[in-house]
Amino acid sequence: MAGGDFLIRPITIDDAVDFNRLVGVVAREQRYLRFIDTPSMDKTVDFLRDSLGAGNPHLAVVVGGNLVGWCDVCRHSFEIEAHVGTLGIGLLPEHRGKGLGKVLLDVTIAAAERLGFRRIELTAFSDNHRAIALYETRGFVLEGVLRAAARFGDEYRDLVQMARLGPELIGL
Ligand SMILES: CC(C)(COP(=O)(O)OP(=O)(O)OC[C@H]1O[C@@H](n2cnc3c(N)ncnc32)[C@H](O)[C@@H]1OP(=O)(O)O)[C@@H](O)C(=O)NCCC(=O)NCCS
Repeated sequence: MAGGDFLIRPITIDDAVDFNRLVGVVAREQRYLRFIDTPSMDKTVDFLRDSLGAGNPHLAVVVGGNLVGWCDVCRHSFEIEAHVGTLGIGLLPEHRGKGLGKVLLDVTIAAAERLGFRRIELTAFSDNHRAIALYETRGFVLEGVLRAAARFGDEYRDLVQMARLGPELIGL
């Protein structure tokens, strides 16, 4: 999908270096993700290989030829949870707040629903108001608070658990 000056397309294994760099930038902000530094290249390649091999949706946002964002839904491995996936999303700081996240999330949810996901879940830090507001507009519902679930130095932070059920599960 292409907008004014961006393109949303599937990530491939050839994007591993750029994806690693992108995730690293967001991780090092130490505000939004559950890891705080750039993952090793090996970890990134293994993650992409396994997840793409499993057929999970992984979308990339490209602006001016550069990867500036990602969104993925990773299917749970237990048989009884095969309809469940965990969503991750991030954009480089300079590309936030311009509506890109909304489009990216919509495209990813649609792809996940086509692939049979019926429950998409995620956790967000409770002070990540922008992400939480975005998720709520896309049908995610707060399911609980994981109190003091993360520790950054001396600071303990809460996570919220949210999930979005597919139309057939909420009787639409
Ligand atoms: C979360 C993220 C993907 C959202 O993408 P985005 O492009 O910045 O968001 P959008 O511009 O599409 O805004 C989406 C909605 O968020 C809400 N929003 C935007 N800015 C906001 C702010 N400063 N405070 C509260 N809500 C805000 C609005 O509801 C907005 O919808 P609207 O424009 O119809 O009012 C992006 O900000 C990001 O990468 N953040 C850092 C990484 C992260 O938080 N990942 C999620 C971890 S759970």
